[in-house]
Amino acid sequence: MSHKSSLIAADIEEYLKAQEQKSLLRFMTCGSVDDGKSTLIGRLLYESKLVFADHLLAIEAESKKRNPQTGELDLSLLVDGLAAEREQGITIDVAYRFFSTERRKFIVADTPGHEQYTRNMVTAASNSELAILLIDARKGVLTQTRRHSYLVSLLGIRRVVLAVNKMDAVDFHPEIFAEIVRDYREFAQRIGLTDVVAIPISALKGDNVTAKSDRTPYYQGPSLMEYLEAVEVQQELSQLPFRMPVQWVNRPHQDFRGFSGLIASGTIERGSQVRVMPSGVTAQVKAIVTYDREPSSACAGQSVTLQLAQEVDVSRGDMLVAAASPPCTADQLQATLIWMHEEPLLPGRPYLLKLGTQVATATVTSLRYKVNVNTLEHVAARTVGLNEIAVCNIGSDRPLTFDSYQENRDTGGFILIDRLSNNTVGAGLIHFALRRADNIHWQALDVNRESRAAQKGQQPRCLWFTGLSGSGKSTIANLVEKRLFALGQHTYILDGDNVRHGLNKDLGFTDADRVENIRRVAEVARLMVDAGLIVLVSFISPFRSERTLARGLFAKGEFLEIYVDTPLAEAERRDPKGLYKKARANQIKNFTGIDSPYEPPESPELHLDTTKLSAEAAAQRVVELLG
Ligand code: ADX
Repeated sequence: MSHKSSLIAADIEEYLKAQEQKSLLRFMTCGSVDDGKSTLIGRLLYESKLVFADHLLAIEAESKKRNPQTGELDLSLLVDGLAAEREQGITIDVAYRFFSTERRKFIVADTPGHEQYTRNMVTAASNSELAILLIDARKGVLTQTRRHSYLVSLLGIRRVVLAVNKMDAVDFHPEIFAEIVRDYREFAQRIGLTDVVAIPISALKGDNVTAKSDRTPYYQGPSLMEYLEAVEVQQELSQLPFRMPVQWVNRPHQDFRGFSGLIASGTIERGSQVRVMPSGVTAQVKAIVTYDREPSSACAGQSVTLQLAQEVDVSRGDMLVAAASPPCTADQLQATLIWMHEEPLLPGRPYLLKLGTQVATATVTSLRYKVNVNTLEHVAARTVGLNEIAVCNIGSDRPLTFDSYQENRDTGGFILIDRLSNNTVGAGLIHFALRRADNIHWQALDVNRESRAAQKGQQPRCLWFTGLSGSGKSTIANLVEKRLFALGQHTYILDGDNVRHGLNKDLGFTDADRVENIRRVAEVARLMVDAGLIVLVSFISPFRSERTLARGLFAKGEFLEIYVDTPLAEAERRDPKGLYKKARANQIKNFTGIDSPYEPPESPELHLDTTKLSAEAAAQRVVELLG
């Protein structure tokens, strides 16, 4: 390695010690394609001399091939090796590179600027203290620059370097630089980025990257490297209140029980009082144990096992926190969501929410607005698409422990995962707990579901009929109800068409509306089961996610999914309401089976093939299912 430090050869121990003592700056770079990002990172690596000699030789050879006249070193090759890998279909979401100078160590997160950019930026930004925003001096501030800046600000990065690159291509013109900086500062101020340092550079020629350039006499500030070496990064994390999400309960033998995890923020000392969240119980730290020692204190970034002096109930997903400054616990909160998937966010759809070691099922209970990241306008919306940002209320099926993202990036950020595909679909930044959740309690009632069911002499159930329009759901449900009624049972039918005349008359047939349609009817069905009824729900309910949500509202065995299986061609042949004809003639949009999907159940309690069974026979099978 062609590193300049002669210490390596002379005294490896000393060298390593010196490295360890240097402070570390983590930063990210954002730019559009062709802004010269790779060249800049390449130059930083090159000028810090932390490049393998053989790597350098290879790049010299390749550069000669590309620029036979000048033989000028193409530093982007140091970085763009990855581009080739990307072309081969290897996805590199965020590339981290390490380099160091005499004064400091650096980790730079490089985010490829392709269409998945929000996901990459979220990943990179959550680990960075500073962002370098690259601007092509010839192009000025672009939409992309605004988007990147908005995300950077949203994700809690306070320090930004505006690197106005390719100054050589505009003859280092002072007015061009000044105008870009003016233009940018105006926008930056509006999104709360106040710590912006602008530097005119040429990554290609090296101006103001490491050494100050004499071609920019109007610029008095430091070179980029000087700035990066000197910028203050407070060790903020250790100064925040103590938070440690519990990863596991460490119980190697009878006499030892400890709680292990990575300290997300703050410091902890032997003897400190901690609070277990969400239970709120307090206890004293008896010992702090690491893999080889028992230190008297530990701080953010360290993995430790805490032994408590009192016997308290703690499990994975709980959080140990400073007793005197606990975080919030709530099952309703407001957050900014950054959507990262092609499939849009659908309010009402259940997603898995992961917040540190906590996992819950969560839904967006209300989509307040989307943000137009170019104009910062608030836009009313019913769904959120790829790379869009929205503010919404979120409800979870259990209390979550958190801080606001502003206060703590670790305990205030979460991700949403699609429960069926397991894809990470969104990132959330928490604003605050919705207090109204605290003020709504379950009212205890003396007549309960068991007594209501007993009075009716029946086992309450929800029979959920799903299938295409015209599949025969309502016909079969009607026959089933008649039979049950004749047997003296107490029943009710919730039929899609009927409920859409009243409770759900505000809903149409977009994906978002269907999700809400099913959410509401599932809640109504639950109330009816609670009231002691056998309720028959006959809705197309085309999406698995919402049927799973509905199932989740009921006790085991109470929810019976009945798939009324009629192939599309057959339903269309029957076309009892003439709707398929209209849909084919383009008079109805989003018609299930035609231009809106139907996801058949994977393991329904009952599968009725209506091409083989008469409606009567099908109804008989349902009655038999009830036993
Ligand atoms: S669901 O998909 O949201 O569950 P639901 O069962 O409430 O649908 O309503 C379906 C009924 O609405 C159909 O039986 C049909 O009569 C009528 N309908 C009108 N437009 C559509 C459409 N675009 N897609 C499906 N059904 C439609």
